[in-house]
Amino acid sequence: MEIIDSPALMTAWADKTRIAGKTICLVPTMGFFHDGHLSLMRKASDIADEVVVSLFVNPIQFGPNEDLARYPRAFERDSGLAEKAGISVLFAPKAEQIYPTGFCTKVCVSRLTETLCGLSRPGHFDGVTTVVAKLFHIIKPHYAIFGAKDFQQLAIIRKMVTDLNWDVRIVAHPIVREKDGLAMSSRNSYLSLDERSQALCLSRALQMAREEVANGETDAAKLIRKVRDYITASGDVVIDYVAIVTAGDLTPCTRISNDSLLALAVKIGRTRLIDNTLLARE
Ligand code: PAJ
Repeated sequence: MEIIDSPALMTAWADKTRIAGKTICLVPTMGFFHDGHLSLMRKASDIADEVVVSLFVNPIQFGPNEDLARYPRAFERDSGLAEKAGISVLFAPKAEQIYPTGFCTKVCVSRLTETLCGLSRPGHFDGVTTVVAKLFHIIKPHYAIFGAKDFQQLAIIRKMVTDLNWDVRIVAHPIVREKDGLAMSSRNSYLSLDERSQALCLSRALQMAREEVANGETDAAKLIRKVRDYITASGDVVIDYVAIVTAGDLTPCTRISNDSLLALAVKIGRTRLIDNTLLARE
């Protein structure tokens, strides 16, 4: 595995690889790898000849009161895990290599960013689309993989790629969970033992909602109320949102159908966690 930090060297590697007729799959990450990241890497190896993993804690996708400074970092451990996963290149630039002095360009997707997480994290998705656009230009991958855990991010990136005629195929990967159901996240490392058990209210609320739908519930407003009650009853947690939307365009649903998605954001102590599930009706 090569470790590259310079965007120019990364582009040279990618150009050489393309010219040799090999396909490239990019897995963008902010590091502190868990099994979710590693399964994205494994899927990438199935899809393409060469896998590039980017590891970059992207400062511009964090709000002024968010956790940029304390975001978990473990470069040595991460590079060991990436090497074991058999990837070709770990692209780990420094902030000043991605955003040199004077950088003032943004890539913004409208509408899809103005709901759900976009409401409580203004500017967050502009930071994501800007860095992902840069990574796509630097690496020119044939494929890029994103996790369904961040389903809004996935929808926004798909839209950016369509709207800008980008020749990269976006591949979605299902949510990877701990044995007890908690969706894996680098931010789970912030949770105290008590908070870790409270955090189960997210996946359990999703499970409860799927059961309600299987038992015939079709009214989105009623289901949202039940989910909110369930979460509120499970401890000292603060709901950011509970929403039922159409998976593709993230517009609210009133009736539950096969492409309805239930999405949650909940604060457990100082840690904001998200989770989601499709509400397919059997
Ligand atoms: P990060 O949170 O490190 O996540 C990197 C990728 O791993 C994303 O596509 C995310 O959806 C996926 N992922 C995280 N947890 C997952 C889980 N439990 N199951 C499946 N996939 C999971 O998302 C980002 O970084 C950044 O916003 C980024 C896209 C890299 C831009 O900076």
